[in-house]
Amino acid sequence: MHIVMTGATSGFGANAAARLAAAGHRLTIGARRPEAVDAAWEARALPLDLDDFASVDLFADALAAGPAIDALVLNAGLQTATLETTAAGHERTFAVNQLAHFRLLHRLLPHLAPGARVILTGSGTHDPAEKTPVTPPAHARAEWLAFPDRDPTLPKSARSRAFRAYSSSKLANIMTAREVARRRPDLSAMSFDPGYVPWTGLARASGTILSTLASLILPLLMKSDRKSSVELSGQYLAELAADPAYAAAQGDYWSVRTPALVRIAPSELARDDAACATLWDDCEALLGLAKA
Ligand SMILES: NC(=O)c1ccc[n+]([C@@H]2O[C@H](COP(=O)([O-])OP(=O)(O)OC[C@H]3O[C@@H](n4cnc5c(N)ncnc54)[C@H](OP(=O)(O)O)[C@@H]3O)[C@@H](O)[C@H]2O)c1
Repeated sequence: MHIVMTGATSGFGANAAARLAAAGHRLTIGARRPEAVDAAWEARALPLDLDDFASVDLFADALAAGPAIDALVLNAGLQTATLETTAAGHERTFAVNQLAHFRLLHRLLPHLAPGARVILTGSGTHDPAEKTPVTPPAHARAEWLAFPDRDPTLPKSARSRAFRAYSSSKLANIMTAREVARRRPDLSAMSFDPGYVPWTGLARASGTILSTLASLILPLLMKSDRKSSVELSGQYLAELAADPAYAAAQGDYWSVRTPALVRIAPSELARDDAACATLWDDCEALLGLAKA
């Protein structure tokens, strides 16, 4: 299979990429540090900075000129300690995790092979019912997420604002997978909740001390089935990308419930078909994209 991945230079994404390469798949990896892509994978490593839509477009152009894509794995993501703004003027977590991936997906839709898989990495934090330590989403309005100063529901504390930007971006990822399934039933679209995976780079914006403490302490406070590892979540992400068992997804949400991977219902808002369609339209409008 020709598998295109983001977020393969660190964390469980790198573990998944190593497994896919070892299984003989042909990998194209978009990375802001292409030199960090393991040479042993014999992957095609291309520059991709999700903070910069021009970089997204160049990556999409390079892929469009190459072979059809059998699986598109949109796994890159970041979490900031406070709200930040990109050069384009959008809130950074939403811009990187959702808008840039949405732009890439939109550009690549015509280059996906028949039956291709589209996988977006979401998170259990998207669901208020999960009661994670991360402030849950209050809505999925793209305009308010891109421009938080317009959002009348914005939390008071800087940390809650950043946490909510993260959980909302992951909600948007999950809703996007569901909307791909509705718009393109010929594809196999799904989202992935890796569980809590300590010792990745995700919390690096909080500093080394806090992110080390989080990796040590959070697993002690969580239900055992919500704790995962780089190896387990890497294995499941690789299986979603290439195992024939997952070839017929219709917007499914797959969650690591250690030691299993289970298909469960996402949050109430993520299940709202009209909200998923509106989010898609609003992302297209925000990015100035023609309707797919
Ligand atoms: N860890 C968890 O508990 C957990 C739980 C739920 C969901 N997730 C999600 O899982 C995914 C992987 O996270 P992880 O925990 O493995 O974290 P990680 O080790 O920090 O990996 C994140 C990946 O995203 C890439 N990335 C970040 N910003 C980027 C940008 N602007 N342009 C291009 N690439 C960028 C990173 O590239 P660099 O190597 O260059 O930094 C890295 O490859 C994320 O989507 C995250 O939201 C994680």
